Amino acid sequence: MPLTYKHLTPEERAFFVEHGWLRVPNAIKPKYLEEWMSNLWVRLGWDPEDKSTWTEEYLKMPRHREVPTDEFCPEAWAKMCEIVGGEDKIDPVRERYYGDQMICNFGTEEMKGGTHDFRELKGWHTDNDWYRQFLDSSGNALTIIHCFTDIPANGGGTALCEDGIKHLCEQFYAHPEGIDPPFDSLNLYQHCKTECSKFAQIEAKAGDVFITHGMIPHAHTPNHLHYPRIITNPHVNLAEPFNLNRPDGDYTLCEQVILRALGRDSIPEYKPTRERLAFYPRTAFYKREKVRDELQRMIAHAESQGGSAADVDSVYLRGEEAILEHEKRNGYDKAFGPTGVAAQEKDQRPTYIPPAPRHVLV
Ligand SMILES: [Fe+2]
Repeated sequence: MPLTYKHLTPEERAFFVEHGWLRVPNAIKPKYLEEWMSNLWVRLGWDPEDKSTWTEEYLKMPRHREVPTDEFCPEAWAKMCEIVGGEDKIDPVRERYYGDQMICNFGTEEMKGGTHDFRELKGWHTDNDWYRQFLDSSGNALTIIHCFTDIPANGGGTALCEDGIKHLCEQFYAHPEGIDPPFDSLNLYQHCKTECSKFAQIEAKAGDVFITHGMIPHAHTPNHLHYPRIITNPHVNLAEPFNLNRPDGDYTLCEQVILRALGRDSIPEYKPTRERLAFYPRTAFYKREKVRDELQRMIAHAESQGGSAADVDSVYLRGEEAILEHEKRNGYDKAFGPTGVAAQEKDQRPTYIPPAPRHVLV
């Protein structure tokens, strides 16, 4: 059956295919903005009124709470489904819940009032720390940005490199054997600093959702306003690889972005030459290592209010069965990959393999 669109306007479809991203304003249900932001500072262990306690400029937190994707942001989810060709194309388990794994960009006093050049940003990348990537890989079909705070201009919003999609697709086309993350050693994103010129930077209101193509390079930018910029950054994973050779030409919008980048109508000759692999997300390790400290702070806070651990809403307090479900949804049930895991946020050592066969948290 040909693809049909009920939630995306022709303008939104054209914008996504041309730019590789789409803003869906005011799409997150307010109750989740409120509930999930309400204990941010308890989890951090910092004082929101005393910036001297904000000891890290930028950090990633683990996930304690999660709800089904269509419950969290129904209209944005409907648009995501249309972009990938329908809800039935989406992996029924993986990342089908959205959660509170906040990515916090605070900036510093020293960074206040500054500016930055997109080409000088250091962290250009695409999200893939959980599979061997090929041109047609759809594990990260869409990278989603959920905005939990307003993000003003110059306020540390994610930078997007629109014309970086082309070079990235060319490199994956040239590597049919697939590439295992991390990709640093291949300089896959060097073109964002040397050749690209079409950049955008996220500016948003709390509640906005940005749907971006998995192949668009992005980077975090300095927060020159020194305030808490809070987002989460989940993905849409498909059940099958992209189809870049459709005789009827009825490509999904996601596939159209890749074809457009390569200037092709179809790519019949592209065939992966190695097996597809999916593994434990290599950057999940250091985030999950923070679970214990956050739980301690949340329980201590509950007790200080006359409550107990029973008042803390975290999957990690709901028993082994709930944790195993959570692990399946997030790929934590998979074995460590060929390049191990990153033990710390800045740790890019490619072969760090922790001794345990599974990431044991307690
Ligand atoms: Fe990212």
